[in-house]
Amino acid sequence: LASTEVDLSQIPEGQVVTIKWRGKPVFVWNRSKEQVEEAKQVKLEQLVDRVARNDNLPPDAPATDENRAAQGKENWLVVVGVCTHLGCVPISNAGDFGGWFCPCHGSHYDSAGRVRQGPAPQNLQVPTYAFESDTKIKIG
Ligand code: FES
Repeated sequence: LASTEVDLSQIPEGQVVTIKWRGKPVFVWNRSKEQVEEAKQVKLEQLVDRVARNDNLPPDAPATDENRAAQGKENWLVVVGVCTHLGCVPISNAGDFGGWFCPCHGSHYDSAGRVRQGPAPQNLQVPTYAFESDTKIKIG
């Protein structure tokens, strides 16, 4: 399927679900206020990859939390679950930066899916998606 719909009403605050889109895992995370706050406090200078990698934004958009999260609905983070190093699937709610940990070679991602440590060169990709209603997104 070229696009996939996700019912957000089934995802409680703080939880991440993994769905399949075009054969790849996609993580959809209903972040808590604390998780959003943690991501917002990170300065661009602290980042390995300062580009948002958000397919919904221009390619040079900076990797602020605002540019990573859903526009106008900052609790939602949608990222492709493929490590940007060599393509393993990172583990959710793991690692030293509040987001994901890739067990293959030890990359850590923060609560905005931005790489913070390890060999991964780029932030987790934000796929093209849009809200169809307050509780439904369409990826792709
Ligand atoms: Fe994730 Fe190498 S594939 S760290």
